[in-house]
Amino acid sequence: MYQDLDAYWMPFTANRQFKKSPRLLARAEGMHFWTPDGRQVLDGIAGLWCVNAGHARPKIVEAIRQQAGELDYAPPFQMGHPKAFELAERLVKLTPPGLDKVFYTNSGSESVETALKMAIAYHRVRGEGQRTRLIGRERGYHGVNFGGISVGGIVANRKMFGTLLAGVDHIRHTHDLQRNAFSRGQPEYGAEFADDLERVIALHDASTIAAVIVEPVAGSTGVLVPPKGYLQRLREICDKHGILLIFDEVITGFGRLGAPFAASHFGVTPDLMTVAKGITNGCVPMGAVFVKQEIHDAFMNGPEHLIEFFHGYTYSAHPLACAAALGTLDTYEEEQLLTRGQGELAEYFADAVHSLKGLPHVIDVRNIGLVGGIELEPLPGEPGKRAFSVFLDCWERGVLIRVTGDIIALSPPLIIEKSHIDQIVGTLADALKRAA
Ligand SMILES: Cc1ncc(COP(=O)(O)O)c(C=O)c1O
Repeated sequence: MYQDLDAYWMPFTANRQFKKSPRLLARAEGMHFWTPDGRQVLDGIAGLWCVNAGHARPKIVEAIRQQAGELDYAPPFQMGHPKAFELAERLVKLTPPGLDKVFYTNSGSESVETALKMAIAYHRVRGEGQRTRLIGRERGYHGVNFGGISVGGIVANRKMFGTLLAGVDHIRHTHDLQRNAFSRGQPEYGAEFADDLERVIALHDASTIAAVIVEPVAGSTGVLVPPKGYLQRLREICDKHGILLIFDEVITGFGRLGAPFAASHFGVTPDLMTVAKGITNGCVPMGAVFVKQEIHDAFMNGPEHLIEFFHGYTYSAHPLACAAALGTLDTYEEEQLLTRGQGELAEYFADAVHSLKGLPHVIDVRNIGLVGGIELEPLPGEPGKRAFSVFLDCWERGVLIRVTGDIIALSPPLIIEKSHIDQIVGTLADALKRAA
């Protein structure tokens, strides 16, 4: 086993703490990881919100193997390969009606940059080139590239990196512990938070605004479920002012809420939708942007030999990613995983996470589909420390959870069984009782 941990600067990691006390994963299958010394760890977060069908699924593994020997790479600029087109056709059958075009990227961050650029360029090609402003939301997470951190609203991800993109503003977040703590599913109060968009529009004038981007359920900031009616209201305001609505579905896409997408679950269709993670079950990096037909069509003018949209990546539509995605869609379909996170299983999961109410330090529990958030009272003067200790405790006892600040997030693979839910929540409950 390789032991020297020095050279690797790890992402979003407390590097010094990790290297003193490493947490290594060597193998994975189904609902579990195994450490190099053979300890089994139950995956309570689908890797990083991405392994929706569980680990090492045979169809996906085989698809990647075969593809590597058949066509390892194909240039995506001015060239194509059959699986890229086949995948696109299959994907748009899953999206809400109207989102009929797909642009491939390699990550959630790249999907976000792509969608923001499309939005600005779309207004320009239809003669409204002054619509350049982008509106995000406080506590939003849209990846780590400059566009994404500019529209994002997580302070630690922004404050170190200078002035970011110009011409960006934010609407307020939807978290309201006073009125909505311990809500089951969508909170009752807060549809009116969407009206904050009217404030921003009044300040800048709608004619300067290209798009609004939100996560339908904010994941990385600690599972913020939209209040009832909130997303519908955002949609109405965007329509009223000719502003594009972008849903960042990097986490919520591919079954997390018990429907293929959050847009389908909430019955609100955005103009552009970003995905990644579950598109390949996390096996090969891939992202995508779904776009309304009319947005795509607005670019299709001018001489036919000219490129219409000056954007793309060397690895857009990578053959291994396309093969992995096709194997993933087969697996989702055969096991009906995209709708598994609703009904009885989701109710069982909701009961389990809400049973944590009343344990030490727990100030809120929230849930939707197969996502749970448990918010802890921070240790005075030491934000994040309490939840991190709960994370370490669970890891020691064979369950992988995720923490962000003092919020614990659960988002297990969609193949989860009730016994796994019991183990995750039981281990977490014990850790909470032990936490200082
Ligand atoms: C909503 C959302 N957007 C974008 C991203 C960034 O994705 P990636 O890490 O693949 O760049 C994430 C990652 O968690 C996300 O949750």
